[in-house]
This record gives sequence, structure tokens and C-alpha cells, in this order.
Amino acid sequence: MASVPERSFLSRITRRKTVEQVQEETRTSELKRTLGPWNLVFLGIGCIIGAGIFVRTGNAAALHAGPAVLISYAIAGIICAFAGLCYAELASTLPVSGSAYTYSYATIGEFCAWIMGALLLLEYGLAASVVAVGWSGYMVSLLGDLGIHIPAALTGPAGHHLQKDGVDVLVNGAPVVFAFNLPAFLVCAALAVLLCIGVSESAKFNNAIVAIKVTVLVAFILVGGFIILKNLPAYTHNWQPFIPEPTGKDGEFGWSGILRAASIVFFAYIGFEAVSTAGQEAKDPGKDMPFGIIGSLVACTLIYILVSIVMTLIVPYQSLNVPDPVAVAVDAFGPQWGWFAKTIKIGAIIGLTSVILVLMYGQTRIFYTMARDGLLPRVFSRVHPKFRTPWINTLLVGIIVALAAGFFDINSLGDMTSVGTLAAFAVVCLSVIWLRRTHPEIPRGYRVPF
Ligand code: ALA
Repeated sequence: MASVPERSFLSRITRRKTVEQVQEETRTSELKRTLGPWNLVFLGIGCIIGAGIFVRTGNAAALHAGPAVLISYAIAGIICAFAGLCYAELASTLPVSGSAYTYSYATIGEFCAWIMGALLLLEYGLAASVVAVGWSGYMVSLLGDLGIHIPAALTGPAGHHLQKDGVDVLVNGAPVVFAFNLPAFLVCAALAVLLCIGVSESAKFNNAIVAIKVTVLVAFILVGGFIILKNLPAYTHNWQPFIPEPTGKDGEFGWSGILRAASIVFFAYIGFEAVSTAGQEAKDPGKDMPFGIIGSLVACTLIYILVSIVMTLIVPYQSLNVPDPVAVAVDAFGPQWGWFAKTIKIGAIIGLTSVILVLMYGQTRIFYTMARDGLLPRVFSRVHPKFRTPWINTLLVGIIVALAAGFFDINSLGDMTSVGTLAAFAVVCLSVIWLRRTHPEIPRGYRVPF
């Protein structure tokens, strides 16, 4: 048998899609073009606002930054804005499914594209699992308020203990050990089925729940802001000191704490680039993609900073290390606002649902594109004859995401998500520079300034 020359292996792993090929794929896509600019902004917000603001802000403020968590949000937001501009330029130049995966294919080559596919599985797939775990926390808490108690062993990550205020809860002298997070598993499975039925139906569903999620947060800002402004001196002591004294341990308060908190709340911004995975389903990708990415990023930054201001003024930051910090802040509005705390929990559950949906959607479209390129078995790009969605791949993504959510804890999942995301951002930023050098002439709907 003839030996394969080394050159052919090298040329294979560095094989690139040409920019023309990528643009041709856009023209011949089988997917329906149903998403307009506001659909894309909603798709972005649907993905961005989630477990980050509803769950992880509490931990970041209570253990790392104090009221200065809003500076952490500003820092993380600025960093994401730079990456967002790069995504916007690439999404308007190469508007295809697959996002960072396609960009790396058209720049560095096939091997890098394959690695990027794996990184994006960490970003989108596991982020969906993180959010599903946050969803499960709010759901278990709401059901508890209503007197419905799921067996504790079925509400957390395998092998971990049930805790309250950082201490093991003992039942008959023994700690409660979790076996599986059943609510997190079930929500992922149900949403995978919805995605199989179709993106157009899913987009309508998504728009409705994004509206609810944003309304809940805006209501929190307005009502909380009104209560605070009515009696400002009663609340300002919660901001003294605004940046708590460092404890001496790295990442606990002071500026090192603010930076540590920024790395936690960075998670809250993940998702703006999911807009770029919908390239083949956007009506006018050149204009709509940058609008969708930048619009959703700006809106979410504003909301996050305002929510953090209200949260840290209304209660002492130390009390926010709970699975439902927004609800804890609402409790401090006063007894007459009890109904609002429940509404917030319901809003959070609905909001987190939309995040899981969009993240899983992004993941399926990356697999779809990889299969069309021959980097995954063809079956992943098979489109359902009636629903016109990549249904086999969607079911597989649903199973992976659901199992990860069922078995793993939110911190490990969150860390893996950040690794995948930061690596993907770095490659995307490099791709912009590469494309400017090699293809300065191709039309760009949007250009990163300077
Ligand atoms: N940014 C998303 C969230 O906060 C992933 O849940």
C-alpha cells in the first residue's frame, strides 16, 4: 500500500474553506430565512440574560466584590464589547451557520475548525447545562413556596451534599447526598423536542419569554429604584464601603475581588455571539447581524448594572450568597411586595428557559455546519422533511446537555464554559485581523472601528 506523504496530512489539516465558498453556502442554504433584526436582538437577549444575573451575581457580590460588583459588570461588559465588535464584522462578512467555527475554518484551516467545534461544545452545550442547573434552583425554590417538595436527592449534582449557608444539612444525623438533578435534566429534554419542531415556532416562543424576562427585571429596577429614592439615607449605608477592604486572600474584596467577580459575571454576557450562529436564517445578514449582536450587548449591560445597583443598595451584600439573590432583594422591598417575589421567581424560570433554548439552538447549528463540511458524520446535517430542522443532531445535543446538567455541579460546568468561550473569542479576534489582511476587498456590512 502506498504510504501517505507527510505533505498530504499537513495540507489536509491546514485546508481552508475559501471566503467565496463560505459566501456560496450562504446562497444555497436549505434553512428558512425567517429572522429579522429585532428577532436577532431578542435571540441575543434571550441567550445573554440568564443564570449570570439571576444566580451568579449574588455569589460574586457576597464573596468577592461587594457593592462594587457593578464595576465588575462594567469591566466584563467592555471586554465582551471588543469581542462583540469582532463577531459583528465577521458575522456581516461570512453570514453562515457555525459562528466562530466557520470563521476559523475560513482563516486558519480545517484542524483548527475541528478544535473550535470542540471548544464551542464547551461554550454552548455546557453553558446550557449551567443555566439548566440555575433553572432547577429557582424551580425547586418556587415549588417549595407552593408546598410541593421534590425529594432532595433528585435536586442536585451526583455525589454533592445538600447545604444551607455553606453547612451540610443533616437528616437523622447523616448528610443528604444528591443522586441526580432531575428538574435540570427534564427541562433540557423538553426544549430539545421543541427545537426539533422548528426554529420559526421556537423564535416566536423565544420572543414571548424574552419579553417576560426583561419586563421582570425592568420592574425590579423601577420598583426597587423608587423605594430606594423615596428614602435614600436608609439605604446608602449598604454602600459603605463601596469597595470592601480586602481580606488578604486573593480575590476576596478590594480590586483583586472586583477582578475575580468580573471573571464570574463574565458568564452573564456569554450568548451575544449566539446571534452569529443564525447567519443562514437571518433575512439580511449584512445589516441585521451587527445590529443583533451589538444591540443585545448594550441592552444587557445597562440592565445588569441597574439591577446590581438596586440589589446591593436594598440589602447588605453579605446576604446575597443564595441560589435566588434577586428574590432575596425583593423580599427587602417590604411585606406588601410578597407576591412580587414569587413573580420574580416565575420570571426567572421563564427567562432561564429561553437561555437554555437559544444555547442549544446555537449548538445544533454548529454541529449542522460541521457535518455539512464532513467534519462530523453526515447524519448530523440531515434535515427533517417536514419540520426542516436538523433533528437527529438536535436530539443528540439535547441528550448531552441534559445528562451534564443532571450529573455535574454549577461551578465545574461554569469554569469549563469560560475556558471554551475565552478560547473561542481569542480565535475570532485573530480571524478579523487575518481577513482584513488577506481579503481587504470583500464587502463588509460592518467594520470594527480603528
Ligand atoms: N449569559 C448567560 C447566562 O447568564 C449564559 O445565563
